[in-house]
Amino acid sequence: MSLNSIFAPNQNFNMRKSIIISVLLALVTITSVRADEGMWLPMLIERLNQRNLQEMGLQLTPEEIYSVNNSSLKDAIVSMGGFCTGEIISPNGLMLTNHHCGYDAIRENSTVDADYLTNGFWAKSYAEELTNPGLYVSFLVEMQDVTKEMLAALEGVETESERNQIISAKGKELADAATSDSHYEARVKSFYAGNEFYLFVYETFTDVRLVGAPPSSVGKYGGDTDNWMWPRHTGDFSMFRVYSGPDGKPAEFSQDNIPLKPKHFLPISIAGVEPGDFTMTGGFPGSTDRYLTSFGIEQALELKNPTIVEIRDAKLAALREDMKKDDAVRLMYASKYAQIANYWKYFIGQTEQLKANNVKAAKEKIETDFQKWAQSNPDRKAKYGDALKMIQTAYEATDANVIGGTYVVEGGLLGADVNLFAFRMGRQLEGYLAMEEGEEKEATKKDLMAYAEEFFAGANMPTDKKLFAVTHELYSKNVATDQQPNYMKELSGKMNGKWMKYAEKVYAKSIFTDKDRMIEFLKSPSQKAYDKDPMKTISSDLFAIYQTRGSANAEANEMLAKGNRLFIAGLREMNPGKDFYPDANSTMRFSFGNVVDYEPKDGVTYNYFTTLEGVMEKMDPDDDEFQVPSKLVDLYKAKDYGQYADENGDLVVNFISTNDITGGNSGSPVINGNGELIGLAFDGNWEAMSGDINFEKSIQRTISVDIRYVLFMVDKYAGATNLIEEMTLVKTKSNKSVQAAKESENSEIKPMEMN
Ligand code: ARG
Repeated sequence: MSLNSIFAPNQNFNMRKSIIISVLLALVTITSVRADEGMWLPMLIERLNQRNLQEMGLQLTPEEIYSVNNSSLKDAIVSMGGFCTGEIISPNGLMLTNHHCGYDAIRENSTVDADYLTNGFWAKSYAEELTNPGLYVSFLVEMQDVTKEMLAALEGVETESERNQIISAKGKELADAATSDSHYEARVKSFYAGNEFYLFVYETFTDVRLVGAPPSSVGKYGGDTDNWMWPRHTGDFSMFRVYSGPDGKPAEFSQDNIPLKPKHFLPISIAGVEPGDFTMTGGFPGSTDRYLTSFGIEQALELKNPTIVEIRDAKLAALREDMKKDDAVRLMYASKYAQIANYWKYFIGQTEQLKANNVKAAKEKIETDFQKWAQSNPDRKAKYGDALKMIQTAYEATDANVIGGTYVVEGGLLGADVNLFAFRMGRQLEGYLAMEEGEEKEATKKDLMAYAEEFFAGANMPTDKKLFAVTHELYSKNVATDQQPNYMKELSGKMNGKWMKYAEKVYAKSIFTDKDRMIEFLKSPSQKAYDKDPMKTISSDLFAIYQTRGSANAEANEMLAKGNRLFIAGLREMNPGKDFYPDANSTMRFSFGNVVDYEPKDGVTYNYFTTLEGVMEKMDPDDDEFQVPSKLVDLYKAKDYGQYADENGDLVVNFISTNDITGGNSGSPVINGNGELIGLAFDGNWEAMSGDINFEKSIQRTISVDIRYVLFMVDKYAGATNLIEEMTLVKTKSNKSVQAAKESENSEIKPMEMN
């Protein structure tokens, strides 16, 4: 989701993505596919060195992973709501994802009396499954390389903005042509900063029901303390079911809908993981900055990251205070809090590890080599000689706007919920007020009423007022006056420490801060009342600053986009034998790795797995992040793990592997060499928090829930044996591996187009 689209009315806003979105792209070189770096496009797996993959332990052919004509692995993997990944694990559309991915759906279905977020939820039959309006899952039907068509359309185009217009127009044309005779949707996406283009065709299902979730004391065990860290002990999973119409096609929710008959579902191996085991992830990583330059790192370290952290600190403290006091408020804000906290800690970690891992120096080395190469002949010099200079100049030009720009989003339009509501509602109201009387106008009024109802059902005004006050306090103090919104400029000098008073006044008066006032107003909206509303002024002024900032940076952004595009093209030309994978952009990617421990620092080794033993060690009844349900304690004491125990009788909870994932991959299946599910990816490790900018080969790990812990919770803890029966369990390691390894020795080796 782009930052612009978050201001579109009624759009489900996904914090994670909007925050990590950056205009920039970053660099990676692959020295060998034995390494685990790389988020590969499914269609291009066949170009990877198959022998290396086989040596790592992959026994599937590229065709078994991605095929347009036959069912393949990709048919079991879905983008969940555009912000997470899920996988189908039964012939009846049963879908597994993370608890933190299902979190908002679980929360939406919870009340203070039936608090599924706290206590868990299990549907014992289809009839008990819970609906989730707005939630969808998308299957990738196929992808196509449309680079040629796109570059032809772009020939002779000079400016980046013109480029962007053509890319979106041509992209739409290609997408429409690809779906003219189907119910599919298609999108063209840009790769390598606009050097290549691929078209993706999706089938999207909108009836997705909640089937099961463990209590948060399991699904979010360790909370923010353990988040982004290893060793970990979290049962981060939840289950949904995808429904289709009776004809098998996507359909809006209806009692007549039937569980989806998927093209493929993943069998599940409970044979366990050992060091060296092959692991593959498939999913929808949201964004990475692997081609980010040293200049971009500088800006992130000095300006962007500390500003985000500072604003979020204040918002989290305000939310915590109110959530503690009132269970209804806690449920209302639980996922908002978790989202803010997740990337609050992310940016703290990224800053710390960019420094610890000397990422800037690593980038400078690449840039020096690049510049030398670019200067070494006249053609190159003409084409690439200025790329880095453009990037540097662009960052220098935007530096002055970073703090203000971060504030207007994080502390302004998204500061208090009312700010964005007033902006969106205001836009719709303006439309309404300009309409001719008639049926359409009446219908619009109904929509506005519904929007207001929905907003006020999800926000607590006293809490929102606090958010408003604390963000304004910081905003007026930390942003240069000429970058403040108009209403703030006038008040900043006088308000020091007194923004709560101002908030009290605004919230006591505005139509946007009280449901009754809003509904009353909507019965016969008047332009005059709208125009003099204080929150209308605030949100319009905030948006005006947001836009001004955009135009102030326009020239620099052009330069940056062009610089990045040339830099990446040049890097690839400079290293013809090397593999460059494109930055994540919410398209399907596979990554290949192995289960292995790591050394976080000298003399310390972290084991590759954790067990229920560790859950008990961390248990702390006085800390709400480290509660353990008593039933789980009982099962632990009795060592009652059934077929899910490992060979020592322990229950493995989490494990790590060298896969390359990022936000959006959450919920991704971790698949063994035979195509069986062995875990569920849910996080990364602290020491490699700089990993979205530079993959840290020796220490970067993907953290996954062992599938045996998932099944143990479903079976032994929840007694939901109905679900286990739907699945296909594989109990022993197939010796297909041995067989395949032999065959691969004799197999023909493909030329190394991608290394
Ligand atoms: N860091 C994880 C991710 O971004 C989310 C983990 C959720 N757990 C938590 N305690 N917030 O995918």
